[in-house]
Amino acid sequence: MADRWADSHRRDAWRKKAKNSGYRARSAFKLLQIQEKFNVIREGDLVLDVGAHPGGWSQVSVECVGENGKVVGVDLEPCEPIEFCTFIVGDITVDETQSKVIEAFSDSMINSIVSDISPNLTGNWSRDQIISMQLVASVFDFSLPLLCPGGNFVTKIFQGEGIENLINLIKPRFSTVKRYSPDASRNSSSEVYLICKNHLPWKNKATSILSDLNSFYEGKKEDETEKTAMGFRLHKAK
Ligand SMILES: C[S@@+](CC[C@H](N)C(=O)[O-])C[C@H]1O[C@@H](n2cnc3c(N)ncnc32)[C@H](O)[C@@H]1O
Repeated sequence: MADRWADSHRRDAWRKKAKNSGYRARSAFKLLQIQEKFNVIREGDLVLDVGAHPGGWSQVSVECVGENGKVVGVDLEPCEPIEFCTFIVGDITVDETQSKVIEAFSDSMINSIVSDISPNLTGNWSRDQIISMQLVASVFDFSLPLLCPGGNFVTKIFQGEGIENLINLIKPRFSTVKRYSPDASRNSSSEVYLICKNHLPWKNKATSILSDLNSFYEGKKEDETEKTAMGFRLHKAK
């Protein structure tokens, strides 16, 4: 009870801070803290902001890139305009939206991808966590080929089954992949950010992170069915 009160108090404090500072969402402070610690966006960068609504991360990205950079935000929901930012409304996993993103960067390679994407939560935690991991994997599959060598990638993920697997799939693509929880993240939340720095040239372009992750989940499902057949309880209904 006391913990819940403390969390809600903390959230309100960040919300108030966001309102006073002109940022649209308290999540802006998460990216500011990530930026301060890891310097993921540089002046003049081309930045893709995935899951951009209402636009807090886009505001921070515009400040970081300055007048020689470019920020493109994508979300299912429309965002109020931000000067020096282009917004695309659409589902990032769909071809039509992906073509609009490529067009918005005029076929240039992107320097930094920041993704705070989060699916609509159903309340079924294990299901939500897997859907979120699959969404993140799709974002990697689409956007990694657009990220320039040396580029950086930040993404929110929810802790749970498959996280180590996803990290292992990402690791060979970057010099460093670290987990980070900014202070502005909720205490009680299991969200964590993956900070991937220095994109490495990748020869095996045909591999799909989403397919590899799904193979992992399929394997788990079979294991659990087997256990049930042997008299154990089935832990997950997927
Ligand atoms: C936590 S919010 C992002 C907040 C944002 N970073 C900010 O600072 O204002 C997550 C967003 O992901 C978006 N989203 C979820 N699934 C998506 C999809 N398939 N394509 C594009 N956006 C998606 C949601 O609409 C939601 O606005």
